Amino acid sequence: MTATTFWNAKHRTYRGKDWIRRPTLFAQEVIDRFPPSADVLDAGCGQGQDSVYFAAAGHRVTAVDHSDFALANFPDGSARRVTASLADFPYPFADASFDVVYAHLSVHYFDLPTTRRIMTEFRRLLRPGGLLCLMVNSVDDPEHGEGTQLGPDYYELEPGDRKRYFSRRTLHDLTGDLFLPYLLEQHGRTHKDPHQAFVRLIAERNAKEPA
Ligand SMILES: C[S@@+](CC[C@H](N)C(=O)[O-])C[C@H]1O[C@@H](n2cnc3c(N)ncnc32)[C@H](O)[C@@H]1O
Repeated sequence: MTATTFWNAKHRTYRGKDWIRRPTLFAQEVIDRFPPSADVLDAGCGQGQDSVYFAAAGHRVTAVDHSDFALANFPDGSARRVTASLADFPYPFADASFDVVYAHLSVHYFDLPTTRRIMTEFRRLLRPGGLLCLMVNSVDDPEHGEGTQLGPDYYELEPGDRKRYFSRRTLHDLTGDLFLPYLLEQHGRTHKDPHQAFVRLIAERNAKEPA
């Protein structure tokens, strides 16, 4: 099973869940940091609850996911929807075309070199002073260690379903030369999980080009 097939099937199981239509807690926490009428990339947007929330607040939202089922199930048409994989480079957007890159629980599926490439791609897409808002599963997640280990903190639970768990240190090492962090901590919350084992990063694009 490919990751896309896995995610199309997974998104079908979300039908009828109340949280799939509610803006996430992270979206509500970060939106006040966005500049007015920002160009926002929602990377790995799923069924679009955060994209629609940002658009309703006056932002211009581009929503990317590889699951066409998820993109077809947006509650309204207020965001531009693009079917693409976050593991296919370069993304189909010009340099410096966004004020905000936002990724909620969508960049922890990849091997380390791909994850690093995603971070450099996010930086390429941001304008000077642009904001990166990321939330990922942490190494303290109760599910950490389940499945077949593929590498440090990286597991396959079933074909198409791979998951990486981040420490603050790993996320810092992956992004420190690209972004200036305002917040890097591990108290992220979701509507559906009882734990708070999510690492949150809010950071500004570095002016200096990475080496
Ligand atoms: C846990 S869901 C989060 C969705 C949404 N951001 C939210 O918070 O509801 C992970 C999302 O990442 C997407 N995803 C996983 N791998 C991807 C890839 N290689 N390219 C694009 N999207 C991907 C999935 O389709 C899914 O929508």
